[in-house]
Amino acid sequence: MTHMLSASQLSPQLAQNMHKLDIRSEQPSDADWVEHLHQLCFGPGRFARAAFRIRERFGVDDRLSFVAEHEGVAVANVKMSPINLSGMNGYLLGPLVTDPHRRRLGAGRLLTMHVTQKALEQASCKFVLLVGDRAYYEPLGFQPISPQKIDFPAPVDPMRVLAVVKSAKVKKGLTGPISFWSGDN
Ligand SMILES: CC(C)(COP(=O)(O)OP(=O)(O)OC[C@H]1O[C@@H](n2cnc3c(N)ncnc32)[C@H](O)[C@@H]1OP(=O)(O)O)[C@@H](O)C(=O)NCCC(=O)NCCS
Repeated sequence: MTHMLSASQLSPQLAQNMHKLDIRSEQPSDADWVEHLHQLCFGPGRFARAAFRIRERFGVDDRLSFVAEHEGVAVANVKMSPINLSGMNGYLLGPLVTDPHRRRLGAGRLLTMHVTQKALEQASCKFVLLVGDRAYYEPLGFQPISPQKIDFPAPVDPMRVLAVVKSAKVKKGLTGPISFWSGDN
């Protein structure tokens, strides 16, 4: 049921660009740069967004915070919040952000594919959820889960709630209140 794609399956041009991109773990020294990007790209209203509210409440799995570099320059960042829905552990992907001067290089898609694959490699992770544009995330394997209703801590358009899941049973369980990841990860 997981359908993550590779860059070459998306487009030859993207695959070519992605050779110039590297992914590394986020370091404490990246914090100011990441915060600056969040301010720049999401503005003062960012704390009302679902990804920020969930990050505030459920924290971030530091092992899944990544930076994309283009020819050695940091260009994009992604974070993952560990959550639980209907007794199943998974992650909320976000915020995902790319430096406005370094867009359309493939960094956002590469980070999304990388972090989703890393998350799903964990046996205890059953899904990766996000709130975002279908046109961007569907080609990467994310699918709408509507009409199911997840109680987000901020208003969200149900059509923008997308997920990659490990099975159809998991997809049915993506409903109700969000709670803390249960057990060790
Ligand atoms: C969305 C974002 C992360 C994409 O970053 P990026 O590194 O430029 O992404 P990529 O290079 O992998 O992909 C660029 C492609 O996606 C398209 N794209 C970008 N945002 C899109 C969107 N919201 N919907 C559909 N397509 C989108 C671009 O037009 C481009 O298409 P092209 O290759 O045909 O020219 C970046 O625009 C950003 O930081 N936006 C502000 C923050 C944000 O909205 N984050 C996502 C929250 S869910």
